[in-house]
Amino acid sequence: MSDSPKLDPISLRLAAANALIRRRRTIKPKDMSEKTIEKEHLAAILENGNWAPTHGMTQPWRFFVFTEDGRQRLADYLQSLYKKLTPEAEVQPAKFEKLGTSPLQAPVVIAVGMSRQDIEKIPEIEEIEAVACAVQNMHLTASALGMAAAWLSPPICYSDEMRTWLGMPDERDKCLGFLYLGWPKDETEWPEGTRDDLTDKVVWVNK
Ligand SMILES: Cc1cc2nc3c(=O)[nH]c(=O)nc-3n(C[C@H](O)[C@H](O)[C@H](O)COP(=O)(O)O)c2cc1C
Repeated sequence: MSDSPKLDPISLRLAAANALIRRRRTIKPKDMSEKTIEKEHLAAILENGNWAPTHGMTQPWRFFVFTEDGRQRLADYLQSLYKKLTPEAEVQPAKFEKLGTSPLQAPVVIAVGMSRQDIEKIPEIEEIEAVACAVQNMHLTASALGMAAAWLSPPICYSDEMRTWLGMPDERDKCLGFLYLGWPKDETEWPEGTRDDLTDKVVWVNK
């Protein structure tokens, strides 16, 4: 007979949710290895993105998936856009360099878009929130697979040029950044997360 304590199904589900949510970390492209991502893994990540909550079922998330040589096209465009949008005196060589190298350090880069509903019944902020939920779903799925992921948003991602280049000509649409996906260079060193205590972030109203 086993002495191990029996966990009820709810405790087990909560433990699984806690483990997944708290293990999710931002691991940047520079810390990703060269290992490729299997098609099935990428499909699972995108599919879970599609299961985000959405007010009015508008499903505003759009994913532009850059792989293989597509990443070089993205890198080249990011560098040219940075040069175009940044006053010459403010161009930082390190930033320029990073925009060109990051997409090549990750096997997959997903540019994340928000497509505005034609009738604009749902407030824009809720469409952005829904896309953020989709990104979180994808990031959690990547973490569950042991993959590295980072949602990065260089200021140029919010430009009209970026949106148009991605194929969203409607000026009400938005690019909300890039989800970089790969494998951690060192799979034994998963980073620790930190958060300030909840105390100052919660207001209890009892009466
Ligand atoms: C909308 C959004 C945009 C972000 N953009 C950037 C970014 O441009 N650069 C960056 O270093 N991290 C970015 N992050 C990731 C945060 O830095 C990261 O979530 C934070 O450091 C907490 O770390 P964790 O994700 O491992 O918990 C972004 C996160 C969110 C939610």
